[in-house]
Amino acid sequence: MSERVNRAYRLRRRPTGELADGDLELVEEEVPELGDGQALVRTRLLSLDPTNRIWMSDIRGYMPPVPLGAVMRGIGIGEVVESRREDMPVGATVSGFLDWQELCLADDSRLLAPLTVLPDPLPGPESAFLGALGHTGVTAYIGIDLAELGEGETIVVSAACGAVGSIAGQIARQRGAGRVVGVAGGPEKCRHAVEALGYDACVDHRADDWREQLDAATPDGIDVDFENVGGPIMDHVLGRLNIGARVSLCGMIAEYNSYNEGGEHAGGLTNVGQLIMQRSTIRGFLVLDFGDRFEEAIGYLGGLLGEGKLHYDETIVDGGIEAAPGALAELFDGGNLGKLLVRVAD
Ligand SMILES: NC(=O)c1ccc[n+]([C@@H]2O[C@H](COP(=O)([O-])OP(=O)(O)OC[C@H]3O[C@@H](n4cnc5c(N)ncnc54)[C@H](OP(=O)(O)O)[C@@H]3O)[C@@H](O)[C@H]2O)c1
Repeated sequence: MSERVNRAYRLRRRPTGELADGDLELVEEEVPELGDGQALVRTRLLSLDPTNRIWMSDIRGYMPPVPLGAVMRGIGIGEVVESRREDMPVGATVSGFLDWQELCLADDSRLLAPLTVLPDPLPGPESAFLGALGHTGVTAYIGIDLAELGEGETIVVSAACGAVGSIAGQIARQRGAGRVVGVAGGPEKCRHAVEALGYDACVDHRADDWREQLDAATPDGIDVDFENVGGPIMDHVLGRLNIGARVSLCGMIAEYNSYNEGGEHAGGLTNVGQLIMQRSTIRGFLVLDFGDRFEEAIGYLGGLLGEGKLHYDETIVDGGIEAAPGALAELFDGGNLGKLLVRVAD
């Protein structure tokens, strides 16, 4: 492949249900000569995030949907390979919205997106800056903080072994939670949650008796719900909230594949009334609104990592940019442990 040919996924059709063949097209395109203020970044790692699926749908979201025909939006880490900008010298490592492509033309519009030059040398493994020390780690930190978790309280974390959940559970432990309960898919993940991530118990949502498991794991009710999934799991948790409980509503991945062009989505919460009975609060949040707290969060998480008090997992899919659509499906099938990444180039 020539140095100046980019391979990129363009969105051709809005998926209905799971991403299907033909929704995205892999195209090869010549990269134009750089103009003043532009830099060319070669993507090394691409972050796969459940929200990628939201961005493909024409719904009332928190960002405009990816326009049909445009390169699929995505966060990555890459290296500056050509530059006509002083703040992005050749060789620098940058992180931000590089999108689903091998080469990203960065200019002021993309810098606002934002695109950040990472410190040299990096204070940790590069991949961690898309996970535990990146946007998903910060999401966990902010979500726990907003929940005002108190000493001795019981917290439930859904998608407990995922990128956000695995870190949220460990922060909760550090912050003095009395009981940290995870919900994950399958016995292996549940074992990992307890043995490696320090959960007191983990409920296997794939087991027929998962509701009974959740009841048994939370004998004193639930004070904080760090919600990543929505659907029946969230509904059951709502039914066990204590008076004054807080729900940190981070994500509802169980619904994202049912968002479609018309904006319809799976409902299914029947226990919302418990928020009244238990005088509880539910707070949706977006990590993007907390840009001014990234440094604080990464400092905290980096500190835990340095002290050996933070375990993080990552699932890195090899196979280049063409592996991205298949990898996205893993988030919905539970194929990933920890942060899911695609290695686009070495
Ligand atoms: N608010 C924000 O700013 C923000 C930022 C980042 C992420 N998020 C949200 O946080 C959540 C987790 O994101 P992540 O990046 O950390 O992904 P992740 O947890 O690493 O991966 C998703 C996991 O969700 C579980 N899952 C998928 N479909 C499910 C279903 N129908 N029922 C139960 N579990 C299901 C699977 O785990 P199992 O194998 O355990 O089922 C899967 O591994 C998502 O909802 C995402 O949208 C929000």
